Amino acid sequence: MKKQVNLLLLATVLFTAACNSNKTNEVSGMKFTITEKSFGVLGSDAITQYTITNPSGMQVSILNYGGTVTNILTPDKNNQMGDVVLGFDSLSGYLQKGNPYFGCLVGRYGNRIGKGQFTIDGKQYQLTLNDHGNTLHGGLRGLDKVVWKAAKEMGDSSIRLTYTSPDGDQGFPGNLSVQVTYTLTSANELQIHYKATTDKTTPVNLTNHCYFNLSGGNDSTILAQEVMIAADKFTEVDSLLIPTGKLPDVKGTPMDFTSAKAIGKDIAAVKGGYDHNWVLNRKGNDLEKIASAYDKTSGRLMEVFTTEPGLQFYTGNFLDGTLHGKNGKTYVQHAAFCMETQHFPDGPNQPSFPNTLLKPGETYESKTVYRFSVK
Ligand code: BGC
Repeated sequence: MKKQVNLLLLATVLFTAACNSNKTNEVSGMKFTITEKSFGVLGSDAITQYTITNPSGMQVSILNYGGTVTNILTPDKNNQMGDVVLGFDSLSGYLQKGNPYFGCLVGRYGNRIGKGQFTIDGKQYQLTLNDHGNTLHGGLRGLDKVVWKAAKEMGDSSIRLTYTSPDGDQGFPGNLSVQVTYTLTSANELQIHYKATTDKTTPVNLTNHCYFNLSGGNDSTILAQEVMIAADKFTEVDSLLIPTGKLPDVKGTPMDFTSAKAIGKDIAAVKGGYDHNWVLNRKGNDLEKIASAYDKTSGRLMEVFTTEPGLQFYTGNFLDGTLHGKNGKTYVQHAAFCMETQHFPDGPNQPSFPNTLLKPGETYESKTVYRFSVK
């Protein structure tokens, strides 16, 4: 009897191993896995949560709704896992009107376009307005509010999301085909690779809107966490956060993050908190380290690499304790910060800013990496 049980056990182990080896990518004997969980239904679409786990146990969970990153589990200096992003436990949380873009993909144009207007080849376009007479993050129904097609990539370390935004969507010209690949690496990096093509000239500026708090749920604000941003200038904005076109120096001002400092150090001197685009000091067009954030208590360090020219550093100024997030947590002002790699706000109306127009025949391409470690 015992022998039979043992044989059965052996057969089960061998069978499971055979199944797993089809589905997983082995790195030094350890495995990447992707699991799928139902996260509800939206209209006729099933919403799925994909969780990628790397060989050292770091996890990233992503929804096909809005390409939303719902969880990033990373170890602290005592090897305790903690979730370093804000979000909700259920789909209804993400669908609620007050969801401040938690974890989602942002497009077609991340950040603001003044009056939601721009002109291309003499033709004026009007976008949907959703922010005090301006357009924020792609308009009323941006890429954060649509259901993407999701596919697991070979090797079980990536999820590829695709979506085609039709000509005229939110007022933007051209059918825009977008592809975003989220990859978790064995070096505890979340890589995001954006690609897009169009059949009419149109502005494109894609980013991700994760709200990070490196304490992993232990600290209610990020004011003590230390940030570095490799930028000597930022884009000055008016009272509605539309760029004036001026690029003031950060030196000697609260905007100076060229050396790491606590987010809270000078925040009181910036009306409302940080919500600005920094003009990154770049050497070329390749991935370069442009920012970092460090939480001394947990030891978690996040380094940000990008191919983009700008970084919107936003300190959760509009969070006010009314949202009920994961595990019933309320999110107070400055509960998290965002590091949105991007082209500059209002690019289509600012000739001196880096070009944001994508033409037919061209491919928009952008990469950002969030690397997690401890020190
Ligand atoms: C913007 C903030 C805005 C937030 C949306 C950020 O990217 O810069 O002004 O409130 O997104 O929650």
